[in-house]
Amino acid sequence: MAIQWFPGHMHLTKKAIQERIKDIDVVIELLDARLPGSSANPMLAELTSGKPGLKVLNKQDLADPARTALWLAHYNALPATRALALDASEATPARRLIQACHELAPGRAGMAKPMRVLICGIPNVGKSTLINTLTGKRAAKTGDEAGITKLEQRIALADDFYLYDTPGVLWPRIIVARSGYNLAASGAIGRNAFDEEEVALELLGYLTRHYPGAPAARYSVDVAGLTDEQLLQAIGRKRGAVQSGGRVNLQKAAEIVIYDLRAANLGRITLETPEEFAAWLAEGQKV
Ligand code: G4P
Repeated sequence: MAIQWFPGHMHLTKKAIQERIKDIDVVIELLDARLPGSSANPMLAELTSGKPGLKVLNKQDLADPARTALWLAHYNALPATRALALDASEATPARRLIQACHELAPGRAGMAKPMRVLICGIPNVGKSTLINTLTGKRAAKTGDEAGITKLEQRIALADDFYLYDTPGVLWPRIIVARSGYNLAASGAIGRNAFDEEEVALELLGYLTRHYPGAPAARYSVDVAGLTDEQLLQAIGRKRGAVQSGGRVNLQKAAEIVIYDLRAANLGRITLETPEEFAAWLAEGQKV
């Protein structure tokens, strides 16, 4: 069953972005480097069309470097778009985005025409971490909560460079089934919105096809010939997720697999390539 996720209406956020966008020179969209396609919100693309865009692939330290290179090339080939990959906690790479904004909007410089940049991203993508790194202090509130519209903040990164935090919460929008699984696996959607066992099975299926060495190395199981369910069973057994009567506790096993993905204990994994994501959209396996 596909994941259904209705976190709440976004019309306040939408209205606020519409209002703000008029004065914005560059839009930074923070994406999760492990799932760049799925962690984008399509509404943002509509609201900000015509504005130069900087795609920041955050959490690159957790993502597969070869696939990050594919995504960077994909975004850099789009008109009026640049892309960078970062670990939001590292200051030097983070400051590269200032230079990238100047390249995207070369007319903006100096006190008379300061650069005005809007920074957006779905919750948990690392926006607060990045803003904190850029400012060197805790300027942004960490953790977005359901239903709470954050007050808009204007942050001066230099005398002629202003960063505007997104007014409101930009929730992820699941437009194809695989995106739902990838968002759930990454931790971007609420725990109560999905079934861990289903997400872990989807994840193991993907890993078996694309990173077969990862579960084998982490859990010392031979993945060859196993169905996804048998693999989850084998992992549960190895990890002692066994209930009375010797049956594997699949819920526990699933939590272990999801935890290990998020902590990069399975290695640096990216859950989608630009080509795959385009194919999912084209197949129209809508939720
Ligand atoms: P948000 O404002 O977009 O909602 O995200 P926030 O900065 O709060 O970051 C969410 C989590 O992601 C935090 O972990 C943060 O440390 C982590 N994070 C942010 N950027 C990076 C990155 O580049 N690499 C890695 N590895 N982690 C990053 P947390 O406080 O442990 O929260 P959680 O994981 O328990 O949700």
